[in-house]
Amino acid sequence: MCGIVGYIGPRDATPVILAGLKRLEYRGYDSAGLAIIEDGRIKIRRDVGKLSQLESLVEESPVSGNIGIGHTRWATHGEPSARNAHPHLGMTGDIVLVHNGIVENYMELREELSAEGAVFNSETDSEVIVHLVERYLSTNGNLVDAARNALSHLRGAHGIVMISSKEPDKIVAARIGNAGGVVVGMGEGEMHIASDMPAILEHTRKIVFLESQQIAVVTRQGLDILALDGRTIDYQVSSVSWDPVSAEKGEFKHFMEKEIHEQVRSLTETISGRIDFRNGHSIRLPELNLTQKFAQDIRKIFITACGTAAHAGMVGKVLIEHIARIPVEVDIASEFRYRDPIVDENTVLLAVSQSGETADTLAAMEEGQRKGATLWSIVNVIGSQAMRISDGYISMQSGPEIGVASTKAYTAPLVDLYMLAILLGDLRGTLDRKSRQKLVDDLRLLPDLAGRCLDREAEVERLARELIHVNHCLYLGRGINMPTAYEGALKLKEISYIHAEGYPAGEMKHGPIALIDREMPVVVIAPRDPWYEKMFSQIEQAKARGGVVIAVATDGDQTIADIADHVLWVPHTPWLLSPVTTVIPLQMLAYHIAAQRGLDVDQPRNLAKSVTVE
Ligand code: G6P
Repeated sequence: MCGIVGYIGPRDATPVILAGLKRLEYRGYDSAGLAIIEDGRIKIRRDVGKLSQLESLVEESPVSGNIGIGHTRWATHGEPSARNAHPHLGMTGDIVLVHNGIVENYMELREELSAEGAVFNSETDSEVIVHLVERYLSTNGNLVDAARNALSHLRGAHGIVMISSKEPDKIVAARIGNAGGVVVGMGEGEMHIASDMPAILEHTRKIVFLESQQIAVVTRQGLDILALDGRTIDYQVSSVSWDPVSAEKGEFKHFMEKEIHEQVRSLTETISGRIDFRNGHSIRLPELNLTQKFAQDIRKIFITACGTAAHAGMVGKVLIEHIARIPVEVDIASEFRYRDPIVDENTVLLAVSQSGETADTLAAMEEGQRKGATLWSIVNVIGSQAMRISDGYISMQSGPEIGVASTKAYTAPLVDLYMLAILLGDLRGTLDRKSRQKLVDDLRLLPDLAGRCLDREAEVERLARELIHVNHCLYLGRGINMPTAYEGALKLKEISYIHAEGYPAGEMKHGPIALIDREMPVVVIAPRDPWYEKMFSQIEQAKARGGVVIAVATDGDQTIADIADHVLWVPHTPWLLSPVTTVIPLQMLAYHIAAQRGLDVDQPRNLAKSVTVE
């Protein structure tokens, strides 16, 4: 989704901004642009399409200067086109800005501003902001105050960054609500600003996160943070340790392939440091701030998330209910926020989010908090909004995930949820020492088991070749592996554009069975878990209707091998951890089908990595 980059300092801003935007390409976008103050005037270059298009534009018609802003746009209001691309320039030519989010009242503002004489050059909601700033500049002449006044008219959530040729010594940025982050990077004699850390980590690790309702005034020498009423606010500088090099593809063709392969490492990191061997294999999750008293008082946990993260949450429900015996409900965040959920102070709202910036997830968290719930989160991006507003968190330890289709940030939270269930079980007394030790010992096997799934990539690739022309695919799973069916189907549809549906296997006979024929493969997740026998009969029902069955099955399962048309083998895995191993062949299958179809695997059409609008 939209990305923002800004720079002020002694260097030429153009290459710095282009490189920053490149780092944000993975978020998904349809147009890009930049504005630089060159010889006291604002110069804009912007176009529809990929960043390479903008780079060629800048090559043909260079711009340079020591201050500038850039943007990658994911269209919401107005088609992807050069005139709708950001930055947007005001009528005086002195103010230019980039914007993430949606101005919910833009129609009414547009009418009001047009009546005052403003002429609009785009169909975007964002352009009203620049006209509003100009309205106030014409009366009091100061960019920061004009920005503050303009902000008071906007409904919705926003990240806004602006510069003025009349005050070329500063960048002014604002964050209102959750439309992605605004982070300021403190360099030596130079300053960076961006919507996301990867854009600036190669320049500095000293980061300041802007909170909602704050304005940043960034100059070469430093940073001031103001409240919307103009008061100065103290801020903290965080040190961030992510390595930008890990955001390179290395030997792999796509980030998604690399990230699938990084799962052994990411699972190892997820576990490491979290088991206290000296204390009877107990689990340590200190950032959760969980006391025994609170663990015992919890009456209900709502897990809320979107997309892949919600599928992880569904596995979490089985784990927590089975191990810790606490009732868990899983809610899609965009539903939770509006359904007036029954929440009290003995409720935990647990958000799962790779980015920690998904607008619906953050809104669901705020709704839970308003109603008195304790907020927990499982988040990959350190310092993200979800992490910051939580009472306690577990960090995923996956490292940056660039591919839009989430893979390593699906399996890591499965392990986090497993550890959380053990910890809760321990503190609530539903787990004896021996059972806990067994669960923890099983966990230690996991990175190796994941590695053994990856070793079978060649077989998966062969099967992918047979499937590249299918139009539909049904995924069936049950119990703890029902979410695996959802996730397998999501992976296939999002990157290969093949219609795929995930279904609870027992529901097949209530509808989807009507679709089964030789043209629609049925992927059946049937490892040796407690639902195995039931899954076996689903396979028979599909076969009896002429279906082509692809089974995900446990090594050595001859019964499945005899009945299924194809088998994706996984090593024997303790059932509570089986969703980690069963999903890996499905990730690889989706990847190879999409790659063999020649598609843009890392940036599938219409999708964004973190969805910062409602
Ligand atoms: C988008 C991404 C998905 C992701 C979902 C939730 O739809 O394309 O891959 O699962 O957002 O994102 P989050 O960052 O909250 O996990």
